[in-house]
Amino acid sequence: MSEILEPSGKTAVVTGAASGIGRELARQLVHAGAMLVITDINAEGLKAVADELEAKGTKVFAPVVDMGDFAAVDAFAEKVIKVAGDSLAFVFANAGIHGITPAIDPDLDMFDKVMKINLMGPVHMSKAFVPRLMARGGPAQLVITGSQASFLAAPGIAPYVAAKHGVWGFADSLRIELAMAQSEVGVSVVAPSRVDTSITRQRLDEYRAQGGEKAVEDYIASMVGPEAIAEVIIREAKKRVFWIIPSHEPTLEMFKARAQAIIDAMPAGAIPFPRPE
Ligand SMILES: NC(=O)c1ccc[n+]([C@@H]2O[C@H](COP(=O)([O-])OP(=O)(O)OC[C@H]3O[C@@H](n4cnc5c(N)ncnc54)[C@H](O)[C@@H]3O)[C@@H](O)[C@H]2O)c1
Repeated sequence: MSEILEPSGKTAVVTGAASGIGRELARQLVHAGAMLVITDINAEGLKAVADELEAKGTKVFAPVVDMGDFAAVDAFAEKVIKVAGDSLAFVFANAGIHGITPAIDPDLDMFDKVMKINLMGPVHMSKAFVPRLMARGGPAQLVITGSQASFLAAPGIAPYVAAKHGVWGFADSLRIELAMAQSEVGVSVVAPSRVDTSITRQRLDEYRAQGGEKAVEDYIASMVGPEAIAEVIIREAKKRVFWIIPSHEPTLEMFKARAQAIIDAMPAGAIPFPRPE
């Protein structure tokens, strides 16, 4: 999977394109010369982005699709593959929601909803697109938006962390199977953190309650705009690498500590092998 996949003259699908990272991906992909298929559950926001892109002279297909509904995602993929054919090169499974509820006593309805959109959404996109892309033949990259929460936990957002950890597990299984099949279809996982979008702004009240306006200001100041994040995602997706981590936070030490705890625990339950007679 070493060849660079260029968006110019190709078709890219972006889910969750009505705002934030998805909208910025769509803008930059158009700028890079791609044809765009954008989708979202927010009809109004999606139309605004489609109008903006079409004003730049690009033809955009922009249907509303709920990532939690596999039948809808499957019908969408069928149509896209039929129309885009060999030009389809990138599928960005980016749509997602936050899930703010404690692990100690989680809101179960919220848990279900977050799993349905943040974990099953990418699974739906993969099931709908990957077999069709493999049958079509030729290179293509499925780029799933996970999160820093795919490999690090945080308090107060248990369903989000659980779903994003699941995204890593699913995508890595898919990566192994695609490699075993020597497929030209590849998969990437994006793991951003603290991007200034409507998702992160949902936590402002929480920070205000904890530390007043100063805490809110510090939180906003710690975030990066979606423009810079989308730039890194596209740059790395073109290289077809598995992990895309456009983080600006010092997460390395936190991850090392977490990995080390697992490494340290590995021989703890040592059992005799092979089984004694
Ligand atoms: N903002 C961050 O700091 C951050 C960090 C890590 C990961 N992410 C991930 O990035 C992705 C994009 O989020 P964002 O930060 O741009 O937030 P955002 O809220 O600006 O964009 C998310 C988009 O997904 C859409 N969406 C929600 N539910 C949907 C559904 N059922 N079907 C189709 N579309 C749906 C929303 O309408 C919205 O337009 C998400 O997967 C999110 O978890 C964001």
